Amino acid sequence: MKITIIGPGNMGRAIATRAVAGGHSVTVVGKTLESAQKVADEVRASAKQGAEISATTLENVEPGDVVVLALWYGTNIEVAKQLSEKLNGKTVVDIANPLNSTYDGLVTAPDSSSAEDVAKAVGPKTKVVKAFNTTYASTLLSGQVAGEPLDVFIAGDDEEAKNKVAQFIKDAGLRPVDTGPLSRARQIEGLGFLHIVTQGDLGTNYASAVKILS
Ligand SMILES: NC(=O)c1ccc[n+]([C@@H]2O[C@H](COP(=O)([O-])OP(=O)(O)OC[C@H]3O[C@@H](n4cnc5c(N)ncnc54)[C@H](OP(=O)(O)O)[C@@H]3O)[C@@H](O)[C@H]2O)c1
Repeated sequence: MKITIIGPGNMGRAIATRAVAGGHSVTVVGKTLESAQKVADEVRASAKQGAEISATTLENVEPGDVVVLALWYGTNIEVAKQLSEKLNGKTVVDIANPLNSTYDGLVTAPDSSSAEDVAKAVGPKTKVVKAFNTTYASTLLSGQVAGEPLDVFIAGDDEEAKNKVAQFIKDAGLRPVDTGPLSRARQIEGLGFLHIVTQGDLGTNYASAVKILS
């Protein structure tokens, strides 16, 4: 699979690491080529044979099958609007936790979510999937916490797009957990928020995981 990761920050680097470890080819996209190239170079050591790694800028991006918006809420909407034509027919993954500036609430409307706002921005020809908002960057680097593979909660309205993202997650050594339609992103983003606000009390310093055990 060709995976395009927009945003060469903590999550961009972490998701790129898991993607290339799963044998997928990754293009890292930054505002500048330098920032994208730096992350592309960093993840190369984790790549399985056959995984190609490249870097480009937002201006020059040619999106792959799956496009991950590793961006803050707000920027994800702006970039989704900016690239909407190029994203036609693609699967777009939104990972944002749309927190307010004081980290004590979500800024999205109660009848929406970051993922649904991205879906409105790209239009109906693009399939949006929510994923990776409850998994912290530091834990994605290894893909495990306490010896257990991370659960990645996903939501989306298009089964084919969701299956593609689920396959990518499995190949990355993680467990996809399908929660249903894209509107479930409201609850997944609520779960991401809950995970963040418990960090201080638990003292886990963003190295914990939300997992369903049985
Ligand atoms: N960190 C986590 O553990 C974690 C966990 C779950 C979900 N999330 C979510 O993941 C998202 C990203 O978080 P993060 O921690 O990775 O943030 P981050 O380290 O600040 O990374 C954001 C990246 O986006 C880049 N960027 C901004 N505008 C861009 C544009 N127009 N085109 C291309 N790249 C652009 C930034 O580049 P510049 O620095 O050059 O501006 C930066 O590299 C957020 O929505 C957050 O809620 C984070």
